[in-house]
Amino acid sequence: MTLLLDEIAVAASRLADAGVESPRTDAELIAAHVHGVSRGALHAVPDAAFDPRYWDDVARRASREPLQHITGLAYFRYLELEVGPGVFVPRQETEVMTGWAIDSLREMDVAEPVVADLGTGSGAIALAIAQEVPAARVHAVEADPLARQWAERNIARCAAAAPHTAGRVTLHDGDFAGALADADGSVDLVISNPPYIPVGSWVPPEVGEYDPATALWSGQDGLDAIRVIERVARRLLRSGGQVAVEHGAPQGAAVYWVFPEEQGWRQTRNHADLAGRDRFVTAAWQDERS
Ligand SMILES: C[S@@+](CC[C@H](N)C(=O)[O-])C[C@H]1O[C@@H](n2cnc3c(N)ncnc32)[C@H](O)[C@@H]1O
Repeated sequence: MTLLLDEIAVAASRLADAGVESPRTDAELIAAHVHGVSRGALHAVPDAAFDPRYWDDVARRASREPLQHITGLAYFRYLELEVGPGVFVPRQETEVMTGWAIDSLREMDVAEPVVADLGTGSGAIALAIAQEVPAARVHAVEADPLARQWAERNIARCAAAAPHTAGRVTLHDGDFAGALADADGSVDLVISNPPYIPVGSWVPPEVGEYDPATALWSGQDGLDAIRVIERVARRLLRSGGQVAVEHGAPQGAAVYWVFPEEQGWRQTRNHADLAGRDRFVTAAWQDERS
Protein backbone atom coordinates (compact mmCIF):
# COMPACT_ATOMS: atom_id res chain seq x y z
CA MET A 1 0.00 0.00 0.00
CA THR A 2 1.15 3.53 -0.72
CA LEU A 3 0.62 6.42 1.68
CA LEU A 4 -2.09 7.87 -0.60
CA LEU A 5 -4.08 4.61 -0.66
CA ASP A 6 -3.89 4.45 3.15
CA GLU A 7 -5.14 8.03 3.38
CA ILE A 8 -7.97 7.30 0.94
CA ALA A 9 -9.15 4.43 3.17
CA VAL A 10 -9.20 6.75 6.21
CA ALA A 11 -10.96 9.48 4.19
CA ALA A 12 -13.60 7.02 2.94
CA SER A 13 -14.43 6.01 6.47
CA ARG A 14 -14.63 9.68 7.54
CA LEU A 15 -17.00 10.44 4.63
CA ALA A 16 -19.15 7.40 5.49
CA ASP A 17 -19.45 8.66 9.07
CA ALA A 18 -20.56 12.05 7.68
CA GLY A 19 -23.41 10.37 5.74
CA VAL A 20 -21.92 10.75 2.24
CA GLU A 21 -23.69 8.34 -0.13
CA SER A 22 -20.65 7.01 -2.03
CA PRO A 23 -17.75 7.55 0.39
CA ARG A 24 -15.07 5.40 -1.26
CA THR A 25 -15.73 6.76 -4.76
CA ASP A 26 -15.71 10.35 -3.50
CA ALA A 27 -12.51 9.80 -1.46
CA GLU A 28 -10.82 8.46 -4.62
CA LEU A 29 -12.13 11.19 -6.93
CA ILE A 30 -11.00 13.93 -4.53
CA ALA A 31 -7.55 12.29 -4.32
CA ALA A 32 -7.35 12.15 -8.13
CA HIS A 33 -8.37 15.82 -8.35
CA VAL A 34 -5.86 17.00 -5.72
CA HIS A 35 -2.98 14.97 -7.19
CA GLY A 36 -3.78 15.74 -10.83
CA VAL A 37 -4.05 12.10 -11.90
CA SER A 38 -6.84 9.83 -13.14
CA ARG A 39 -8.60 7.60 -10.63
CA GLY A 40 -6.91 4.58 -12.23
CA ALA A 41 -3.43 6.04 -11.56
CA LEU A 42 -3.91 6.69 -7.82
CA HIS A 43 -1.97 3.56 -6.82
CA ALA A 44 1.12 4.93 -8.62
CA VAL A 45 1.35 8.26 -6.73
CA PRO A 46 4.65 8.05 -4.79
CA ASP A 47 4.57 8.64 -1.03
CA ALA A 48 6.71 11.76 -1.44
CA ALA A 49 4.07 13.28 -3.74
CA PHE A 50 1.23 13.01 -1.21
CA ASP A 51 -0.40 16.43 -0.98
CA PRO A 52 -1.78 17.18 2.50
CA ARG A 53 -4.31 19.58 0.94
CA TYR A 54 -6.21 16.35 0.30
CA TRP A 55 -7.52 16.62 3.86
CA ASP A 56 -8.90 20.12 3.25
CA ASP A 57 -11.03 18.84 0.40
CA VAL A 58 -12.09 15.73 2.34
CA ALA A 59 -13.25 18.05 5.14
CA ARG A 60 -15.30 20.06 2.62
CA ARG A 61 -16.96 16.87 1.38
CA ALA A 62 -17.55 15.68 4.96
CA SER A 63 -19.43 18.94 5.54
CA ARG A 64 -21.62 17.78 2.62
CA GLU A 65 -20.38 20.22 -0.03
CA PRO A 66 -21.05 18.48 -3.37
CA LEU A 67 -18.13 16.61 -4.91
CA GLN A 68 -18.62 18.59 -8.14
CA HIS A 69 -18.15 21.92 -6.32
CA ILE A 70 -14.87 20.65 -4.91
CA THR A 71 -13.50 19.39 -8.22
CA GLY A 72 -15.22 22.18 -10.20
CA LEU A 73 -16.40 19.67 -12.80
CA ALA A 74 -19.50 17.64 -13.62
CA TYR A 75 -19.78 14.95 -16.27
CA PHE A 76 -22.92 14.76 -18.40
CA ARG A 77 -23.15 12.22 -21.25
CA TYR A 78 -19.97 13.03 -23.29
CA LEU A 79 -19.41 16.47 -21.77
CA GLU A 80 -17.15 17.81 -19.07
CA LEU A 81 -18.87 20.90 -17.61
CA GLU A 82 -17.71 23.56 -15.18
CA VAL A 83 -19.95 23.94 -12.14
CA GLY A 84 -19.85 25.70 -8.78
CA PRO A 85 -21.83 28.04 -6.55
CA GLY A 86 -24.92 29.45 -8.25
CA VAL A 87 -25.66 26.63 -10.68
CA PHE A 88 -27.53 23.33 -10.45
CA VAL A 89 -25.20 20.32 -10.72
CA PRO A 90 -26.41 18.21 -13.67
CA ARG A 91 -27.66 14.76 -12.65
CA GLN A 92 -27.37 11.29 -14.19
CA GLU A 93 -31.19 10.98 -14.25
CA THR A 94 -31.34 13.80 -16.78
CA GLU A 95 -28.97 11.96 -19.13
CA VAL A 96 -31.70 9.42 -19.92
CA MET A 97 -34.24 12.09 -20.92
CA THR A 98 -31.57 13.87 -22.98
CA GLY A 99 -30.79 10.55 -24.73
CA TRP A 100 -34.49 10.18 -25.58
CA ALA A 101 -34.46 13.69 -27.09
CA ILE A 102 -31.31 12.96 -29.10
CA ASP A 103 -32.84 9.76 -30.52
CA SER A 104 -36.07 11.62 -31.40
CA LEU A 105 -34.19 14.41 -33.17
CA ARG A 106 -32.17 11.88 -35.17
CA GLU A 107 -35.40 10.18 -36.25
CA MET A 108 -37.07 13.44 -37.35
CA ASP A 109 -37.03 14.14 -41.05
CA VAL A 110 -35.82 17.71 -40.46
CA ALA A 111 -32.51 19.04 -41.84
CA GLU A 112 -31.75 21.46 -38.99
CA PRO A 113 -34.06 20.69 -36.04
CA VAL A 114 -34.79 23.57 -33.68
CA VAL A 115 -34.71 22.78 -29.95
CA ALA A 116 -35.68 24.81 -26.87
CA ASP A 117 -34.07 23.88 -23.53
CA LEU A 118 -36.13 25.68 -20.86
CA GLY A 119 -34.14 26.36 -17.65
CA THR A 120 -30.73 25.42 -19.01
CA GLY A 121 -28.66 25.90 -15.83
CA SER A 122 -25.08 24.83 -16.67
CA GLY A 123 -26.17 24.25 -20.29
CA ALA A 124 -25.92 20.47 -19.85
CA ILE A 125 -28.96 19.41 -21.92
CA ALA A 126 -28.50 22.04 -24.63
CA LEU A 127 -24.80 21.25 -25.09
CA ALA A 128 -25.27 17.48 -25.10
CA ILE A 129 -27.86 17.87 -27.88
CA ALA A 130 -25.58 20.21 -29.85
CA GLN A 131 -22.68 17.78 -29.44
CA GLU A 132 -24.61 14.65 -30.42
CA VAL A 133 -26.99 16.10 -33.04
CA PRO A 134 -24.63 18.37 -34.97
CA ALA A 135 -27.33 19.82 -37.25
CA ALA A 136 -29.51 20.95 -34.32
CA ARG A 137 -29.93 24.60 -33.36
CA VAL A 138 -30.55 24.89 -29.64
CA HIS A 139 -32.11 27.82 -27.78
CA ALA A 140 -31.20 27.66 -24.10
CA VAL A 141 -33.34 29.80 -21.76
CA GLU A 142 -32.28 30.71 -18.22
CA ALA A 143 -33.67 33.31 -15.79
CA ASP A 144 -30.93 33.18 -13.15
CA PRO A 145 -27.98 35.48 -13.97
CA LEU A 146 -25.45 33.41 -11.99
CA ALA A 147 -26.50 30.19 -13.70
CA ARG A 148 -26.28 31.97 -17.06
CA GLN A 149 -22.63 32.82 -16.38
CA TRP A 150 -21.87 29.11 -15.93
CA ALA A 151 -23.81 28.28 -19.10
CA GLU A 152 -21.82 30.91 -21.05
CA ARG A 153 -18.58 29.44 -19.76
CA ASN A 154 -19.65 25.91 -20.73
CA ILE A 155 -20.81 26.98 -24.19
CA ALA A 156 -17.34 28.46 -24.82
CA ARG A 157 -15.58 25.44 -23.29
CA CYS A 158 -17.64 23.06 -25.43
CA ALA A 159 -17.00 25.08 -28.60
CA ALA A 160 -13.25 24.76 -27.96
CA ALA A 161 -13.42 21.01 -27.32
CA ALA A 162 -16.04 20.20 -30.01
CA PRO A 163 -15.89 22.97 -32.66
CA HIS A 164 -19.03 21.71 -34.44
CA THR A 165 -21.07 23.00 -31.47
CA ALA A 166 -19.80 26.59 -31.94
CA GLY A 167 -22.69 28.93 -32.74
CA ARG A 168 -25.26 26.13 -32.38
CA VAL A 169 -26.38 26.99 -28.83
CA THR A 170 -27.92 30.43 -28.23
CA LEU A 171 -28.36 31.51 -24.62
CA HIS A 172 -31.48 33.58 -23.82
CA ASP A 173 -31.96 35.62 -20.68
CA GLY A 174 -35.38 35.55 -19.00
CA ASP A 175 -38.36 33.63 -17.71
CA PHE A 176 -39.25 30.62 -19.82
CA ALA A 177 -42.96 31.52 -19.49
CA GLY A 178 -42.62 34.19 -22.19
CA ALA A 179 -39.49 32.89 -23.90
CA LEU A 180 -38.69 32.71 -27.62
CA ALA A 181 -41.89 34.43 -28.85
CA ASP A 182 -40.30 34.77 -32.32
CA ALA A 183 -40.16 30.98 -32.59
CA ASP A 184 -43.86 30.29 -31.86
CA GLY A 185 -45.11 27.27 -33.83
CA SER A 186 -41.69 26.45 -35.29
CA VAL A 187 -39.78 24.46 -32.64
CA ASP A 188 -39.22 20.73 -33.26
CA LEU A 189 -38.48 19.73 -29.67
CA VAL A 190 -38.97 21.37 -26.27
CA ILE A 191 -37.03 19.85 -23.38
CA SER A 192 -36.85 20.87 -19.75
CA ASN A 193 -35.57 19.73 -16.40
CA PRO A 194 -37.47 22.39 -14.44
CA PRO A 195 -37.68 22.87 -10.67
CA TYR A 196 -40.11 20.21 -9.40
CA ILE A 197 -39.67 19.70 -5.65
CA PRO A 198 -42.78 20.41 -3.51
CA VAL A 199 -42.10 23.30 -1.13
CA GLY A 200 -41.21 22.03 2.34
CA SER A 201 -39.87 18.61 1.22
CA TRP A 202 -36.72 17.23 2.80
CA VAL A 203 -33.64 17.27 0.55
CA PRO A 204 -30.04 16.23 1.38
CA PRO A 205 -27.60 19.00 2.40
CA GLU A 206 -25.75 18.77 -0.95
CA VAL A 207 -29.02 19.85 -2.61
CA GLY A 208 -30.64 22.20 -0.08
CA GLU A 209 -27.48 24.14 0.78
CA TYR A 210 -25.72 24.21 -2.59
CA ASP A 211 -28.15 23.91 -5.54
CA PRO A 212 -29.83 27.29 -6.17
CA ALA A 213 -33.36 27.55 -4.73
CA THR A 214 -34.71 28.61 -8.15
CA ALA A 215 -33.60 25.22 -9.51
CA LEU A 216 -35.46 23.22 -6.86
CA TRP A 217 -38.76 24.42 -5.47
CA SER A 218 -42.01 24.64 -7.45
CA GLY A 219 -45.15 25.19 -5.38
CA GLN A 220 -47.13 22.94 -3.04
CA ASP A 221 -47.25 19.91 -5.34
CA GLY A 222 -43.98 20.63 -7.17
CA LEU A 223 -45.79 20.96 -10.51
CA ASP A 224 -46.06 24.75 -10.93
CA ALA A 225 -43.14 25.01 -13.38
CA ILE A 226 -44.18 21.86 -15.27
CA ARG A 227 -47.63 23.40 -15.90
CA VAL A 228 -45.89 26.47 -17.32
CA ILE A 229 -43.67 24.26 -19.51
CA GLU A 230 -46.80 22.59 -20.91
CA ARG A 231 -48.25 25.98 -21.93
CA VAL A 232 -44.96 27.16 -23.41
CA ALA A 233 -44.46 23.90 -25.33
CA ARG A 234 -47.98 24.24 -26.81
CA ARG A 235 -47.07 27.72 -28.02
CA LEU A 236 -43.58 26.89 -29.35
CA LEU A 237 -43.99 23.51 -31.01
CA ARG A 238 -44.86 22.97 -34.64
CA SER A 239 -47.51 20.33 -35.26
CA GLY A 240 -45.83 16.94 -34.74
CA GLY A 241 -43.13 18.44 -32.49
CA GLN A 242 -42.20 16.72 -29.23
CA VAL A 243 -41.88 17.74 -25.60
CA ALA A 244 -39.86 16.04 -22.84
CA VAL A 245 -40.07 17.15 -19.22
CA GLU A 246 -38.33 15.72 -16.17
CA HIS A 247 -40.13 15.26 -12.83
CA GLY A 248 -39.66 13.65 -9.42
CA ALA A 249 -40.15 9.87 -9.04
CA PRO A 250 -43.58 10.08 -7.35
CA GLN A 251 -44.96 12.63 -9.86
CA GLY A 252 -45.25 10.40 -12.97
CA ALA A 253 -49.03 9.95 -12.89
CA ALA A 254 -49.71 13.64 -12.14
CA VAL A 255 -47.38 14.89 -14.88
CA TYR A 256 -48.94 12.48 -17.41
CA TRP A 257 -52.24 14.36 -16.95
CA VAL A 258 -50.59 17.74 -17.50
CA PHE A 259 -50.35 16.66 -21.20
CA PRO A 260 -53.94 15.50 -22.01
CA GLU A 261 -55.40 14.69 -25.41
CA GLU A 262 -58.10 17.39 -25.03
CA GLN A 263 -55.33 19.97 -24.99
CA GLY A 264 -53.88 18.69 -28.30
CA TRP A 265 -51.29 16.29 -26.89
CA ARG A 266 -50.79 12.86 -28.44
CA GLN A 267 -48.71 9.81 -27.45
CA THR A 268 -48.18 11.03 -23.87
CA ARG A 269 -45.78 8.56 -22.21
CA ASN A 270 -44.11 8.03 -18.86
CA HIS A 271 -40.42 7.05 -18.92
CA ALA A 272 -38.17 5.61 -16.21
CA ASP A 273 -34.60 6.52 -15.26
CA LEU A 274 -31.75 3.99 -14.98
CA ALA A 275 -32.92 3.04 -11.48
CA GLY A 276 -36.36 2.15 -12.89
CA ARG A 277 -38.13 5.12 -11.25
CA ASP A 278 -40.61 7.29 -13.17
CA ARG A 279 -38.50 10.26 -14.30
CA PHE A 280 -39.83 12.04 -17.38
CA VAL A 281 -42.88 12.47 -19.57
CA THR A 282 -42.90 12.94 -23.33
CA ALA A 283 -45.72 13.93 -25.68
CA ALA A 284 -46.29 14.99 -29.28
CA TRP A 285 -48.13 18.20 -30.15
CA GLN A 286 -50.95 17.99 -32.68
CA ASP A 287 -52.12 21.39 -33.88
CA GLU A 288 -55.73 20.86 -34.97
CA ARG A 289 -55.47 23.82 -37.39
CA SER A 290 -52.77 22.11 -39.48
C1 LIG B 1 -33.34 21.73 -12.07
S1 LIG B 1 -32.40 23.02 -12.82
C2 LIG B 1 -31.91 22.21 -14.35
C3 LIG B 1 -30.69 22.79 -14.99
C4 LIG B 1 -30.22 22.00 -16.22
N1 LIG B 1 -31.21 22.02 -17.28
C5 LIG B 1 -29.91 20.58 -15.85
O1 LIG B 1 -30.69 19.68 -16.18
O2 LIG B 1 -28.88 20.34 -15.22
C6 LIG B 1 -33.68 24.15 -13.33
C7 LIG B 1 -33.17 25.44 -13.98
O3 LIG B 1 -34.29 26.21 -14.40
C8 LIG B 1 -34.06 27.57 -14.08
N2 LIG B 1 -35.39 28.20 -13.95
C9 LIG B 1 -36.31 28.01 -12.97
N3 LIG B 1 -37.42 28.71 -13.22
C10 LIG B 1 -37.21 29.36 -14.39
C11 LIG B 1 -38.01 30.24 -15.18
N4 LIG B 1 -39.26 30.57 -14.81
N5 LIG B 1 -37.49 30.72 -16.32
C12 LIG B 1 -36.24 30.37 -16.72
N6 LIG B 1 -35.42 29.55 -16.01
C13 LIG B 1 -35.91 29.05 -14.86
C14 LIG B 1 -33.28 27.53 -12.77
O4 LIG B 1 -32.60 28.73 -12.55
C15 LIG B 1 -32.37 26.33 -13.03
O5 LIG B 1 -31.17 26.72 -13.64
